[in-house]
Amino acid sequence: MSSSAEPANLMEAVVSLAKRRGFVFQSSEIYGGLNGFFDYGPLGVELKKNIRDCWWNDMVRRRDDVVGVETSIIMHPKVWQASGHVDGFTDPLVDCKASKNRYRADQLFFSPVVVDGNVVGYVSALESERTTEELQAAAEQFKRKKAIQGTLAPVQPRDMTEAKPEEIPQIPSPATGEPGSLTPPRAFNMMFETYVGALRDASSVSYLRPETAQGMFVDFKNVVDTGRVKLPFGIAQTGKSFRNEITPRNFIFRSREFEQMEMEFFIHEDDDWAKWHRYWIDWCKDWLLSIGLPASHLSEYDHLKEKLAFYSKGTTDIMFKFPFGVQELWGIAARGNYDLGQHEKASGVPQAIFDEATKKKFIPHVIEPAVGLDRIFLAVLTAGYAEEQVTDEKGNTETRTVLRLSPRIAPVKVAVLPLLKNKEALTTRAKELYKKLQRRYAVFYDEAGAIGRRYRRQDEIGTPWCVTIDFDTIEKDGTFTLRERDSMQQKRITEAELFALLDEQVY
Ligand code: GAP
Repeated sequence: MSSSAEPANLMEAVVSLAKRRGFVFQSSEIYGGLNGFFDYGPLGVELKKNIRDCWWNDMVRRRDDVVGVETSIIMHPKVWQASGHVDGFTDPLVDCKASKNRYRADQLFFSPVVVDGNVVGYVSALESERTTEELQAAAEQFKRKKAIQGTLAPVQPRDMTEAKPEEIPQIPSPATGEPGSLTPPRAFNMMFETYVGALRDASSVSYLRPETAQGMFVDFKNVVDTGRVKLPFGIAQTGKSFRNEITPRNFIFRSREFEQMEMEFFIHEDDDWAKWHRYWIDWCKDWLLSIGLPASHLSEYDHLKEKLAFYSKGTTDIMFKFPFGVQELWGIAARGNYDLGQHEKASGVPQAIFDEATKKKFIPHVIEPAVGLDRIFLAVLTAGYAEEQVTDEKGNTETRTVLRLSPRIAPVKVAVLPLLKNKEALTTRAKELYKKLQRRYAVFYDEAGAIGRRYRRQDEIGTPWCVTIDFDTIEKDGTFTLRERDSMQQKRITEAELFALLDEQVY
């Protein structure tokens, strides 16, 4: 028997499990860590690789119209001038001169405190699920502290990008609680700069890429000339991107070094971009379901037309219900022919292709599904984590922690457990099966401790199946006990059936 409940602080529980079981560590931890950087441990690296491999197989290998590339992280600096990143890849930054803290202006909220229709002061709060409640509580406290009589109006939250110049000196810093130290927002470029070669001057400045996408645009002609591709077709890659985020936060959700999985899908200029845009939104959602994310956690957000870049035809984000709120997981943008057009202008190399039907040359348009691998990693951990009260046949109740990961991405697919450690016939057969499975799958051999405890260890890391080698295996019919993680049901299974099950579920 079991009953499942989300822990009071799901995010804390997931971060703790990630550290405890070797999924994710803080980077450079023994030196106090480096904010916005993370390491993936033995189980984390497997989970991440499995998500990446699933994406690559489904996006590239199993499609006839998408090919892959791997482009360099440091590219010619002119790439980033042409793409607009050198001038425009900025977030609005607010400094607190008193505490030296820095805030993203669109994540720092404030409100006037209005009593009987008069503004009597200002309150501020950092963006969270409860920003409005926090501002209201701060306004009530402000009124009480200053002993102001009258009726307090509900707060009207705005972020610092919307503050009028005369309001800024009156807004308190979240660090000190006092007004007067916040600066007006200014544009902060998020590109990491470096130098290429032995000279360290303006001529050798280069950048760590802030997105993988430009690699596909810059290699577009190479792929067309060598790849036997025909419109519509896509170019995909996975790889590291770097952004000097002002406020990295929520664990691996927003970090300064992260991995992206992006695909540029090129279409004819006369093709129906909205149809392809919709196609890729649906494809991405279906793919997220195929790696086990629950449909209940997914939604769509269409960017407001007036906030889009001038060349953009439309952007839809697939949103995910994280423990800290509903946030962007995957952006699907219709970017017209802006990127190839920019590179044609800046490099002088024509990017147009010839259309046999119309005998015309044109620059293809693009639909771009772009997702962060680390974000999907966090989504599967937070959606899959559960603490269950389980009662055994003797009536004893205990809490089991279980990670409900899809067999497609689980870091360990099967744990092989001999019933007893000190019975050589059992361990020999178990090791034989373990070695055989290991040729194709990530498997784990465990002979230490009571069988129930061994199951729990596997539940916590998301292993979908445990097979136990017992006396029936060696003395009777050769079958094993297969124990399923989510239902905890057990049944007898032959070796051939076990391989068939894995073949069907792990792809
Ligand atoms: N080429 C388009 C592009 O890069 P983006 O919305 O800036 O678009 C795409 O990034 C995806 O990359 C996001 O939806 C998110 O999943 C992921 N991502 C962006 N910034 C990130 C960060 N600082 N940390 C982790 N993932 C990030």
